[in-house]
Amino acid sequence: MLKELDLLYEEIARCRNCPLALERVNPVRDKGCPETAAVVFVGEAPGANEVKHGIPFAGEAGKKLNTYLAEAGLTRNDVYVTNVVRCRPTANGGRRNRTPGREIQACGGWLKRELDIIRPKMIVTLGNIALKWLCGKNCVIGDRHGGLIRMDGFQVFPMYHPAAAIYKRDLDALIRSEFRQLGRILGRN
Ligand code: URA
Repeated sequence: MLKELDLLYEEIARCRNCPLALERVNPVRDKGCPETAAVVFVGEAPGANEVKHGIPFAGEAGKKLNTYLAEAGLTRNDVYVTNVVRCRPTANGGRRNRTPGREIQACGGWLKRELDIIRPKMIVTLGNIALKWLCGKNCVIGDRHGGLIRMDGFQVFPMYHPAAAIYKRDLDALIRSEFRQLGRILGRN
């Protein structure tokens, strides 16, 4: 599996599917082990910190994610983290991160191939973009968070994006309780 992922990431590093390729440094890739991971988390797209460190969820949203994982009895070593979009969508001449738009279609095929290699039984989507990409555009995070969705060969557990709790502090308690629920589903707490 690791060899296949290495080859996939070599292809991603050469991707020219959208203009973000012009600004790409190196594709962001998790250091976690997909072969032993209890669950695969799918976020939206890397930001400045992720590009700098070369790993997903390396900035403020990542700190939040790490505290939420602890609620589920998990650490970053127990999970594999990836994104729908591989390069950093920017605004304001590169000064700001932005929500990906057309890049989702251009890039989303990489995620499908990555999941075909890993074949996880459980996928946690973080936020609307990952949820819609995997489960269809009618799935909305406000309706589906904290409820299992059975797909062909795997289950999806939709969760709010950890960054949402940075802006909407009242989401924090809800997200924590849903991570505890995830821990129970995985037999971790
Ligand atoms: N937000 C995401 O969705 N993905 C990252 O890798 C970092 C922040």
